[in-house]
Amino acid sequence: MNDLLRYFENNPDRMIHKWMHYFDVYDRYFAKFRDTDVHFVEIGTGNGGSMQMWKHYFGKKAKFYGVDINPYAKNFADEQVKVFIGDQGDRTFLNKLAAEIPRIDILLDDGGHSMTQQINTFEVLYPKISANGVYLCEDLHTSYWKGYGGGLRKRGSFIEYSKNFIDHLHTWHSKWVKKAAPEEFAKSTYALHYYDSMLVIEKKPMEKPYTRMTGKATLPPEEPVEPPLIRRAVRGLKRALKKEKKK
Ligand SMILES: C[S@@+](CC[C@H](N)C(=O)[O-])C[C@H]1O[C@@H](n2cnc3c(N)ncnc32)[C@H](O)[C@@H]1O
Repeated sequence: MNDLLRYFENNPDRMIHKWMHYFDVYDRYFAKFRDTDVHFVEIGTGNGGSMQMWKHYFGKKAKFYGVDINPYAKNFADEQVKVFIGDQGDRTFLNKLAAEIPRIDILLDDGGHSMTQQINTFEVLYPKISANGVYLCEDLHTSYWKGYGGGLRKRGSFIEYSKNFIDHLHTWHSKWVKKAAPEEFAKSTYALHYYDSMLVIEKKPMEKPYTRMTGKATLPPEEPVEPPLIRRAVRGLKRALKKEKKK
């Protein structure tokens, strides 16, 4: 059991609401930031319990920024936590938020979970994430829920939108992708990790990929390797020719 789950199971204070498989994923990507001066943004503070859990997990050096549309969230502010009240679907608010926060190492989107909220938040705040930071959007199942603007393969759902990230990651290998996607994504994104209802994006400065060969060549250069299907077709043709000759 990791420390986050242990805290949750013994939660002594404000309410936390989580899907149970999230704890493992959080710990997998957040552990390296523990006991550092990580700048952590949580969109959607709920009852305030998750912020208490993050404080307990990351330690005293960390700085926290809670964002919520509900003005009650102001009550969760303290010497380590700054709270911003606003709508994560509003790009003007998000830009102001980004301007007021010195840096963002981790962003956790657990806000309203509608498609425009998740997409606007990603588009405004992903470029602001530190070079080796982490962007995590959760409750992606709303991409399949009508009430949130979702539906299977529905254009404009966050899941459909984020599938394009796979193309964007491969900008280096295709003129077509280069035209369609900002090169910046490939230059700053290390990996996309999908879990049930979660997308975790790890950032890292990336160079154009290249291949190398080391060691001695072992294949005889003159002999092309025939794929099995071609070998079979050639054998079939030879048999057919033999039969023809016999006639
Ligand atoms: C699922 S709760 C957050 C739960 C909390 N993170 C936890 O783990 O216990 C979602 C929160 O998002 C907030 N919210 C809903 N729509 C929002 C919006 N458009 N912008 C910012 N916050 C929003 C709600 O007020 C609510 O506090």
